[in-house]
Amino acid sequence: MKVLILFAHPAFHKSKVNKVLVDDLSELQGVTFHDLYEHYPEFDIDVKEEQKLLSEHDCVIFQYPLFWYSTPSILKEWQDLVLEHGWAFGSQGNELKGKLFFCTITAGGPKQAYQIGAFHNLTINQLLTPLKQTAALCKMITLPPFVVHGTHAMEDDKILDFKNDYVGLLKTIVDDKLDIEKVRKLDYLNHYLIKEEL
Ligand SMILES: Cc1cc2nc3c(=O)[nH]c(=O)nc-3n(C[C@H](O)[C@H](O)[C@H](O)COP(=O)(O)O)c2cc1C
Repeated sequence: MKVLILFAHPAFHKSKVNKVLVDDLSELQGVTFHDLYEHYPEFDIDVKEEQKLLSEHDCVIFQYPLFWYSTPSILKEWQDLVLEHGWAFGSQGNELKGKLFFCTITAGGPKQAYQIGAFHNLTINQLLTPLKQTAALCKMITLPPFVVHGTHAMEDDKILDFKNDYVGLLKTIVDDKLDIEKVRKLDYLNHYLIKEEL
């Protein structure tokens, strides 16, 4: 399996968590790391190049810090331009059909705040509804998100734990060893190895 990570962080120089998560990812066999803000600082997204990249991969990941319960703006622009009718969706638009899709998200808020009735009142999965439906319209197979909560006060060794889990997950996908049917039932992909939750 070939994995494409579409990374979006508009202030990467200030990043603490994503900086560790993405460090050396491009060295991983089968993984293409594509930094959208680095490629397109003026938002002049090359649609044909992005579509070519998508066609060359089997699994597409949006990786980003949660900004106002959503993605940083370049990921919205990317969707608006790249996911063309007749290419990504519609009766003739089958280029993404059958590919895996999920989000890797870092969030300042803790997991317990992302529950109905809690501080943020919505779960991360509820917040992902438009992205998940977009992927469904494009006939992709959506997996739960990989989420790092509580980034503000996170210790370095904890960030490294998440990094190791993330790399393990990516290698499992590249080796085509992820049990898709089982992990689709999880709330977060972080738990892909925990058998009792499956
Ligand atoms: C403009 C902006 C909006 C944010 N919105 C949210 C939010 O809606 N929910 C949340 O949990 N954290 C929010 N945060 C916190 C970021 O998600 C958090 O700082 C980031 O994931 C940490 O990753 P980094 O160390 O790679 O920057 C926001 C931060 C910024 C700058």
